[in-house]
This record gives sequence, C-alpha cells and structure tokens, in this order.
Amino acid sequence: MKDTSKMLSTYTLGHLELSNRAVLSPMTRTSAESSGKATAEMARYYARFAKGGFGLVITEGIYFNYENSRSYANQPGIADDEQAKSWKPVVEAVHHEEGKVIAQLMHGGALVQHEDFVSIAPSAVAPVGEMLAEHGGSGKFSTPRKMTNDEIQYVIDSFALAAVRAKEVGFDGVEVHGANGYLLDQFVTDYTNQRTDEYGGSTEKRIRLIVKVLHAIRAAVGLDYVVGVRISQGKVNDFHHKWAGGEKDAEIIFEQIAQAFPTYIHTTEYKAFAPAFSDSQHTLAALAKRYSKLPVIANGKLGEPKKAESLLENGEADMIAIGKEALVNADWVHKVKEGKPLKPFHHQYLEPIATLRKEEYA
Ligand SMILES: Cc1cc2nc3c(=O)[nH]c(=O)nc-3n(C[C@H](O)[C@H](O)[C@H](O)COP(=O)(O)O)c2cc1C
Repeated sequence: MKDTSKMLSTYTLGHLELSNRAVLSPMTRTSAESSGKATAEMARYYARFAKGGFGLVITEGIYFNYENSRSYANQPGIADDEQAKSWKPVVEAVHHEEGKVIAQLMHGGALVQHEDFVSIAPSAVAPVGEMLAEHGGSGKFSTPRKMTNDEIQYVIDSFALAAVRAKEVGFDGVEVHGANGYLLDQFVTDYTNQRTDEYGGSTEKRIRLIVKVLHAIRAAVGLDYVVGVRISQGKVNDFHHKWAGGEKDAEIIFEQIAQAFPTYIHTTEYKAFAPAFSDSQHTLAALAKRYSKLPVIANGKLGEPKKAESLLENGEADMIAIGKEALVNADWVHKVKEGKPLKPFHHQYLEPIATLRKEEYA
C-alpha cells in the first residue's frame, strides 16, 4: 500500500498523536494469573503489535470489580491497586515500541463462565446461546439475578474508579465495553432488558446506563483523557441480533452517547463494510459518525487492507481495528506498507482454547 494511504497516515485522537489509523482490536486471551494480575508474557504479547506497526493497541476486556464483573477464569482485572500495578509493564512495553495503549473495561453481566458468584443482569433472563469453548466454557449459561438500583450505581462507580486506576498506571485511555452481549449491551438489548424503571423500556432508557457510565468516567478522569465506548448489534452468544428500530435506534443510541463526551465510538459488526440494516445502505460506523459527530473506529473483517482503506476513504470511519488477522500477523501494518502477503487466519488458532501461544510472547 502506498505511503499516501489514509490507513498509514497519522491521526490525532483526543490529545493522542497516533502514528497511523490501524488499531489492535480488543481480544480476550484468558492468560492472566488466577488472581487477575497481568503477566510478563502479556507485556511481551501486547508490545509485539506496537512493534508490528499498530499505532494503537486496545487490551482485552478487563474486569473491574471483584463482586460480579468477571466473565472468565484467568481474565485480567483492574479491580484494585495490586491488579492495576500489574499492568504497568504492559503499558511500558507498548510505549517502548512507540505505540499507545488503551484499557478496555468490561463487565460480563449474565455472561459468566465460572462458579465464583451468581451473575447479575438487567433482568433475570437466561442468556441465549452457549458458553464460549475458546474461553473454557461449555453448555448453557446460568440465569442471572436482576440487578438492584444500588448494584447499578455500584457498577457505575466501579467503572469510574477503574478508569482512574488505568490513568494512574499510564494507560493512554480507556474503552468502555458496551458491545458483544456483555452487561452494558444487555441493558441496550430489548430481550435481555425487561426493566420498567429508568433503565428499561424505550431505546433512550436502555442506552441510559452506558451514558451514565461515560459521564461518571469523564467526571473522574478529566476532559483531556481518552475515553471510548464500543458498541455492536451482534453478541458473542447471538451473532445475528439487529436493533429492532433500525436506523432510528442508531440515531438515538449514537446521539445519546455523544452527549456524555466520549472521545470516540468503536463500532463492531460481523462485516463492518456491509449495511447495518436491511432497509438502509449505511454501515454502523457511518451511522455512528453521522449521529455522534465523533471519531469512529470501525471493526469487523477488515483484515483485507483494501476494504479497510475504502471505509477510511469514504469517510465512514477514522480508524480501523483488526482482530483475528492481527493474531497471525502482529506486523500487519508493516506488511501492508511493504505490500507483503498476509498470513490467513484459521479458527483452529484459538482451539481448543484461546490462551496465549508461546510464539506470541517469545
Ligand atoms: C479470541 C477473541 C477474543 C475477543 N475478546 C474480545 C474482548 O475482550 N473485547 C471485545 O470488545 N471484543 C473481543 N473480541 C472481538 C474482536 O475484538 C473483534 O471484534 C472480532 O474478532 C471481529 O474483528 P475481526 O474480524 O477483525 O477479527 C474477541 C475476538 C476474539 C477472536
């Protein structure tokens, strides 16, 4: 790809100067200590992507309170200062390679694959689908307990505290995981949210928790810190879900989010370049840009550089996040720049389990 490509051009995200618009998509690898501390191997793993040219690295989803936010065994956490400190070598390793790194903060809600606590969710609705084999689960999810209003407030507060810890250990920003079927997305989704209070019912009410979380984080970290939010229709346990209100829902969701002053929105779809709804020509990324007027990261099957470049060229997105292709091409950016062939990704790579492979941290 030519040096004049948009993908390879610099980009300023908030106050962050990024060397290009290629982003490592967040990917859970369940390779932390059982205590939730990040490891030296994880530091080397994340640094590889910065070394391979990615201007921005987003970490896997990190749980942020001990009570009920963790989804997976060996998922990393940032629930206290000890866990936060364990991320310092990860941050330093990425910075050493001249990359930037954002911590993704995640609450699993009903999608819990261990037995350490009873899961909580907007309503006591059993999740559809099955536990994720690549993260060590099998069979149906348990039915969660409906959250009290105090528990909702506690989640908001613990998101904000975790963002402060992330800032203190040197992360360049945080991303709120509002996508893929986890807690915040369970609030957005009509069939998992049957509440009749201020958090349930209309689309405006179902997006309210995300808006409150973003406000709380912004108040805690200040105006100049990068705070993003990830949004999707599909879920890890329900790939094909679509928002019932189509483009009107997109308008409400992205407009409401913009009012909470995030720095960016990160949309993820199975195919980011395909129209988001059957009766609309627009991609979800384009709709996020149109209705929020914020910078947008687009994700979903964009490992093919021409597809990624065309989304940027058309003004549908400002940055592109690469997931699975990056696992087998940590130097994706360098390869694209030099016109070298990319290794194809095969799902066997994550089988039987998605923990880090030796070659990823050697
Ligand atoms: C092993 C694995 C773990 C993932 N974990 C997360 C995660 O922690 N947080 C998240 O937002 N998305 C997660 N995802 C989704 C990816 O970020 C990305 O959206 C998805 O792989 C589609 O992008 P791609 O087509 O470029 O792979 C994960 C994907 C994979 C393959």
